[in-house]
Amino acid sequence: MLARCLFAAALVVGSVSSAYAQVEGPKMFGKTADGKPVEVYTLKNKNGIIVKVMTLGATITEINVPDKKGKFANVVFGFDDVKGYESKDNQYFGCTVGRVANRIAKGRFTLDGKEYKLAINNEPNHLHGGVKKSLDKVVWNAKIIPPHPQRGGFPTLQFLYTSPDGEEGYPGKTDVRVTYSLRDRNVLFIDYYAVADKATPINLTNHSYFNLAGAGAETVLDHELQIEANKYVPVDQTLIPTGKVEAVKGTVFDFTKTTRIGERIEKLYETGAKGYDHCYALTRPEKRGEISLAAKMRDPKSGRVLEVITSQPGVQLYTGNFLFGQKGKDGKTYKQRSGVCLETGGLPDAVNQPTFPSIILRPGQTYRHTCVYAFSVE
Ligand code: GLA
Repeated sequence: MLARCLFAAALVVGSVSSAYAQVEGPKMFGKTADGKPVEVYTLKNKNGIIVKVMTLGATITEINVPDKKGKFANVVFGFDDVKGYESKDNQYFGCTVGRVANRIAKGRFTLDGKEYKLAINNEPNHLHGGVKKSLDKVVWNAKIIPPHPQRGGFPTLQFLYTSPDGEEGYPGKTDVRVTYSLRDRNVLFIDYYAVADKATPINLTNHSYFNLAGAGAETVLDHELQIEANKYVPVDQTLIPTGKVEAVKGTVFDFTKTTRIGERIEKLYETGAKGYDHCYALTRPEKRGEISLAAKMRDPKSGRVLEVITSQPGVQLYTGNFLFGQKGKDGKTYKQRSGVCLETGGLPDAVNQPTFPSIILRPGQTYRHTCVYAFSVE
């Protein structure tokens, strides 16, 4: 009874807390160019970690974590206002990407004998779900879900979006749910679910750009990285897979042992990717569906560590090669290779690559994907 009263009281003040971690909001963040209100929520835990997520694109706008001396900094890219997020300077900062993250060759695929055509927004290919109504560009419905034992007793911030049949050229009405849950042991759970009423491809991810020295710091080339993958997906000049999955051993792609990101990156400067923009096929000892470590990254100066854990077969390493010094949040500048994305998901262009794990979701099935960002210091 007491619990019920406390819970009701918490709902009234717009904040729900478990032992420590809590979600607060919503607060007005601004309006989209077409007048839709955008709200922001704040997740906090007992160690003072703060994560902010907004309804436009179910986007992470801030992650504040301490360094080895206990000094907090925001480690992800963002903008001060909605206008920034809607501008050309926004290269998917922190957003939920879909319906299909990464590239689809020539913006075409055939499913059950029918050909589908998508927007070509990254010549000559389709990238990250399209132009107008890709999941990063729509306003989602948000709700705080109170603590539940199944979620470790922590509250969850839930985002829902229904993408109508044919939106951005993708078949089937698709209901998408993304939840964020910050735990007291400094981990942020992101859980994705989707169901569709027709067979459709789906590959969701989060596109946060990290700089563990603090967003706006010069470079990520000094970050140390380890990826749990013996294999990666080679790509052509337009970043479309060649169809093979090859061994990283003896190549610039080998991060099986902790290596500085900048150690061998220069060898890729003349390629279409201009650095790392490659998917790793994760070595997964566990059963499919269970989560395991994908990558561990550390900034030696601040000591901040990020571990990325996932249930998915791949992680895209993107070293911010196409950043161009745009101005972001708090007056910071995001130079080329000053942010790194570790995008968990399926392998790129899986819809056209018969040997890659299928990303087709059929009626009656549920797409599930867990991505965990775990923060610590070393
Ligand atoms: C992805 C792609 C990159 C780039 C960024 C956005 O991660 O793989 O090539 O397009 O998104 O700029």
